[in-house]
Amino acid sequence: MSAKISRNDPCWCGSGIKYKKCHEAFDERILKFRQMKKIVPSRKMIKTRADIDGIKNSARINIAVLDEVAANIKEGMSTQQIDEIVYKTTTKMGGIPAPLDYEGYPKSVCTSINEQVCHGIPSEDIILRSGDIVNVDVSTEYNGYFSDSSRMFMIGEVSEEKQKLVRVAKECVEMGLAAVKPWGFLGDVGAAVNEHAIKNGFSVVREIGGHGIGLEFHEDPWVGFTTKPGTKMVLAPGLCFTIEPMINMGEPDIYIDDDNGWTAYTQDGLPSAQWEIQLVVTEDGAQVLTY
Ligand code: MF3
Ligand code: CO
Repeated sequence: MSAKISRNDPCWCGSGIKYKKCHEAFDERILKFRQMKKIVPSRKMIKTRADIDGIKNSARINIAVLDEVAANIKEGMSTQQIDEIVYKTTTKMGGIPAPLDYEGYPKSVCTSINEQVCHGIPSEDIILRSGDIVNVDVSTEYNGYFSDSSRMFMIGEVSEEKQKLVRVAKECVEMGLAAVKPWGFLGDVGAAVNEHAIKNGFSVVREIGGHGIGLEFHEDPWVGFTTKPGTKMVLAPGLCFTIEPMINMGEPDIYIDDDNGWTAYTQDGLPSAQWEIQLVVTEDGAQVLTY
């Protein structure tokens, strides 16, 4: 807890507006949830208007990079070529690919094919073939602000069941987004995702989730997608995070590649799909920042 501000002081959020007209009512609601033993966000997690503007400028690049990948991705291309598109497009627009050198990650983007769940590392040796489904996960730093989103691409002729997996994974994100309500719970989001995946005969990866984002690439809260309604963090307006469930055709179990320490695979070798958006909780719902 920080020192009590008087009601006529400028608000702690940096808006320049008096506390009583800015976050006073917000703080009262947070206090009530705290008394109910609910998990509440720290002030640091709550994005200001200026933060959101900064994130939007970063997101503009992130979306443009994914659009450029979408326009160029094709059968016969290596995933290294996707990395080159991402690096060139990001830097041309003044951004920095956030994955590059992040905790030792060697490339500018993650490209995860078929049974790769996430964190696939681009390579000259990995060639996109007809029937492949591939997730391209782009993250950008611009002017100190971070953005993150990923999309699935289907190469050539893709089987009906893989097409369904890709479609349902996208629907899971949409269901999760619809569950974002101001002063609701983060657990509502994961519950909506999980329910839709299971209803379609698929499963949700438990160990890897979404995250808070904005002033850093990965901030609290961690966002699980197999949660229960009414649990986890209170969705206070200004909270900014990703929805990025990994949906498996078979069992939810995964393992990490021993050789590179990054890439996650399904244990049963069946395909996995993922889409990712970034949003900020608003007074009346959510605003999507990346897609
Ligand atoms: N873009 C991934 C995410 O959604 C993060 C990957 S970390 C990296 O959180 F270093 F592999 F890029
Ligand atoms: Co992310």
